[in-house]
Amino acid sequence: IRRAGVIGAGIMGSGIAAAHVKRGVATTLLDADEKALGRGVRSAFEDVAYNKKTKRPDVQRTLQAAPLLHATSELIDLAACDLVIEAVVENAEVKRQIYSQLEPQLRPEAILASNTSTIPITRLAEKLTRPDRFCGLHFFNPVKRMQLVEVIRGRQTSDETVASVVAHAKRIGKHPIVVADGPGFLVNRLLFPYMNEALQLVSEGVSLVEIDRAAKAYGMPMGPIALYDMVGIDTAFYAGRTMWEAYPDRVAASPILPMLMKQGRLGQKSGAGFFSYKNKRGDAQPDPALDPLIAPYCSPSTTKSQTQIISRLMLPMLLEATRVLQEQVVRDPRDVDFGLIYGLGFPAYRGGLLFDTDAVGAAKVVEQLREFESLGSRFRPTPLLLELAGSGTKFYREGRA
Ligand code: NAI
Repeated sequence: IRRAGVIGAGIMGSGIAAAHVKRGVATTLLDADEKALGRGVRSAFEDVAYNKKTKRPDVQRTLQAAPLLHATSELIDLAACDLVIEAVVENAEVKRQIYSQLEPQLRPEAILASNTSTIPITRLAEKLTRPDRFCGLHFFNPVKRMQLVEVIRGRQTSDETVASVVAHAKRIGKHPIVVADGPGFLVNRLLFPYMNEALQLVSEGVSLVEIDRAAKAYGMPMGPIALYDMVGIDTAFYAGRTMWEAYPDRVAASPILPMLMKQGRLGQKSGAGFFSYKNKRGDAQPDPALDPLIAPYCSPSTTKSQTQIISRLMLPMLLEATRVLQEQVVRDPRDVDFGLIYGLGFPAYRGGLLFDTDAVGAAKVVEQLREFESLGSRFRPTPLLLELAGSGTKFYREGRA
């Protein structure tokens, strides 16, 4: 792959373009909106120019990178690309529309990939002429820091496409895992129950700061509420909708995200979401203006112990991980733990969620789940967990891992 194209110069597209340019891959970055394109190019260059040693932008790096990044708003400019990564809004219709215009302009051997966080690849491929040359290539936010990429194999994706994209991901310094198609693939499918539970805690009256503090005490690099703001409230909502549609039985949709969107509070990118970012350094700060907005959706303020909050956040994620294993979304437990550590910044010293559960013991976890029985099916032990608890075996047992 000599020339890459990236469609959508938002949070992800600009980071993906920067990752390519940093590794010397000529890249064309496209956005339909001129202003967004300008912001994306600027952000990509800031990323490329940053010198970790001096903690400053480096003019020399910028000059070296400049000829490699080409900005455009015309699809025809992607015709020479060997790989095009689409990173526009999380909306299947918009994405499919772009593919139908783009595919006839690409060379037959070019690969088209989507950075979608949740929409099944097979569904996005429905109207393509060459679905075998299409797959998911899912980066994580922030692209410059998160090393994982998921390569998602749609029903018609060819082995050659998967192998080329895996090799390309390694070339730009990422750690790829190949995952089966399905809503949320691997990492977002695991992240979603955790994020959703954070909203449930908010609606039960637990403070935003306490929720984030508990997640950080567990070892997560940031709390779920700050993560909503970083991901973007709109993106989180659209991603969430795909998950709610797929798993309605264990997900209670929260009205809080649509309300924030209506208020234009889209997270860091708009200066405010759950927290406010309107200070000099752009740090997250509690925002009193939020209180009257979320009050109608919340019970009176309540306190929970840090241990309780951690269990509420982590147990739904663990249960989802057991379902993922049973459905063979990945080959073995190591893929789950690898994905969580490199894709979400899950504390590496715990060895991963499944490794950590093995240390505690499945029987103990089943016991912990009893405390939350009244919260419904999302806290019900899964057949795999019950099997491990009953037999006293582990996820990482011989023959499985
Ligand atoms: P964003 O809202 O920051 O950027 C999307 C960009 O696409 C905007 O600049 C917009 O002008 C452009 N766009 C919209 N329609 C277009 C069209 N028809 N042609 C060309 N450009 C168009 O969104 P973000 O967060 O970068 O997400 C992009 C994709 O990446 C989504 O599919 C999202 O699910 C996925 N993703 C997002 C992550 C996140 O944390 N934000 C993480 C991983 C994946």
